[in-house]
Amino acid sequence: MISPILKALNEIFERHKDNFQGALPTYIPELAKANPSDFGICIATVDGMFYEVGCTQKQFSMQSISKIFTYGLALSDQGEEEVLKRVGVEPSGDAFNSIVFDEKSCRPFNPMVNAGAIATTALIKGDNLNERLQRILQMFGRFAGHELKIDQKIYLSEKLTGHRNRAIAYLELNSKMIEEPIEDHLNLYFLQCSVLVNSRDLAIMGATLANNGINPITGVQAERPEHIRHILSIMQSCGMYNFSGEWTFRVGLPAKSGVSGGIMAVVPGYLGIGIYSPLLDSRGNSERGIHVCEDLSKNFDLHLFVSHPPLRSVIRRNYSGIEVLSKRRRNAWELEILTKVGYLIQVYELQGDLFFSSVEQLCRQFLRPAEGLFVIIDGTHVGRVDQSVPQILNTLRQMLIAKNIKLLIAGKNSSLYSVLQNEEAWPKSCFFDSIEVALENCEDSLLEMNQKILIAKIPLKEIDVLKNFTKEELKIIENNIKEINYASGDLIIKEQEIGDELFMLASGLAGIYLLINTENQRYRRVGAISPGITFGEMSSFYLQKRTANVIAEQPCSCYVLSMAKISMLAERQPKIYAKLLTNIARGLAERLKRANEEIRALSS
Ligand code: DON
Repeated sequence: MISPILKALNEIFERHKDNFQGALPTYIPELAKANPSDFGICIATVDGMFYEVGCTQKQFSMQSISKIFTYGLALSDQGEEEVLKRVGVEPSGDAFNSIVFDEKSCRPFNPMVNAGAIATTALIKGDNLNERLQRILQMFGRFAGHELKIDQKIYLSEKLTGHRNRAIAYLELNSKMIEEPIEDHLNLYFLQCSVLVNSRDLAIMGATLANNGINPITGVQAERPEHIRHILSIMQSCGMYNFSGEWTFRVGLPAKSGVSGGIMAVVPGYLGIGIYSPLLDSRGNSERGIHVCEDLSKNFDLHLFVSHPPLRSVIRRNYSGIEVLSKRRRNAWELEILTKVGYLIQVYELQGDLFFSSVEQLCRQFLRPAEGLFVIIDGTHVGRVDQSVPQILNTLRQMLIAKNIKLLIAGKNSSLYSVLQNEEAWPKSCFFDSIEVALENCEDSLLEMNQKILIAKIPLKEIDVLKNFTKEELKIIENNIKEINYASGDLIIKEQEIGDELFMLASGLAGIYLLINTENQRYRRVGAISPGITFGEMSSFYLQKRTANVIAEQPCSCYVLSMAKISMLAERQPKIYAKLLTNIARGLAERLKRANEEIRALSS
């Protein structure tokens, strides 16, 4: 099956391949030898997928497309302030080779016109021409993902005929815009223009720009993200020379053209586009290339000013601690309290990217007078987190603290969790592995506030499965149980072992753990048990093999009833046995009911 994206690309290719309008450049003789039929289009995504049609392997020299990358290197070499002093960022509205300067500031208008590009190349550091060239080539290599070579014929052709560029450079020297060695700067400029690429290289170089400077194939950071922003801004305002305004109007993407017929366009965050077709329009931009970009932009709605709200709501789900409880099996009096005060816990599961607008949407939730003590924000379904987000969320956290509300962050493997955890302002106590753990923590705090945390041992009569037992019946049970104490960390029940004992937690806290990965022995805590709760009943009565590990998380004491004793009771004390079974069944039914309520709350 062919991808619908590739099909659309093929259609665009077919639509323009017979367009032979425009002309080959003649001022660099070697470029005039290009084949006007050559035509290649390639799209590379920021996750490394390619869509290509036509002669995408055909090599051509980068020419002016090199200018934007050298600008990034100059920013790295000299810093933003120094580069801005030397080269402006204003579109000139003139042709690429015009001999005009921003005389007020004594600098070329921008780094895309030849005057600005030569001044930019003059800023590249290195002890000699070769060292500077190697640094430029290494930088190109980081963007392309492999080494790029120079076409010596094109270089010599340009060097021999580049009188206009030479004139520009000497005028710049005369006005002290650049310094010696002028011939080295010029040679370096001619060399960078003669570096060979194909449309596929341009696409991946564009995708690297789209990906904040990280090459999607190699994962190498080709340039610092803040420089990528500067590069894309210049491409947007000046990349297509005196066609830049109309280009923005029609195509709406940062782009750069070269006189050899290449165009590289970028959809920030998504794609790089590389096109080769050597016939040029009167401004020196690829004729077919412009039409293809217009079609791509229209077809796929890529214009930067077409907004694509990424999601309907940043809040995936919102519920309170009454609707969804933690995975802790709570005893009756804990449940009684939690069903009354659970509304004081609010959970917000977020989704999608967090940036100004989505966080603004989230903040709105808290403008109304809040009735609560805990807000849990879950980042499990969050994608990218903009750098503006931690500060806004920290302000929100402080404002909630002022209202006596604690903000908790859940979702250990999420980008939100790791971004915030690296922020000094956020105390460690705000972070929880999962919503369940955060909920359990908040519930415990609520119970503590209501003095419902049990320190003492629970008597037999309060155990869930022994409800409604008479004194005599309890006496019989008491005679048949043994009491076992566990230290914190002890294994109470082991997964896969045959279950032949029923456990009733009298005091402490036990966690239920499932083995998730046998290779690295990774366990996940799927629940916990409060005093008063019976556990181990399912395997003892029905499944035989234990389905999870149960581990003492605090010192625990358990009443343990063996299956042998239960069988004996079944025979000799059928009433007690029937009561026990009824209570176990009631407990299971209540858990099922709660699970259904939870499904309802999570589905609404
Ligand atoms: O300096 C020149 O004229 C060429 N090496 C580069 C010009 C260029 O690519 C203009 N772009 N359309």
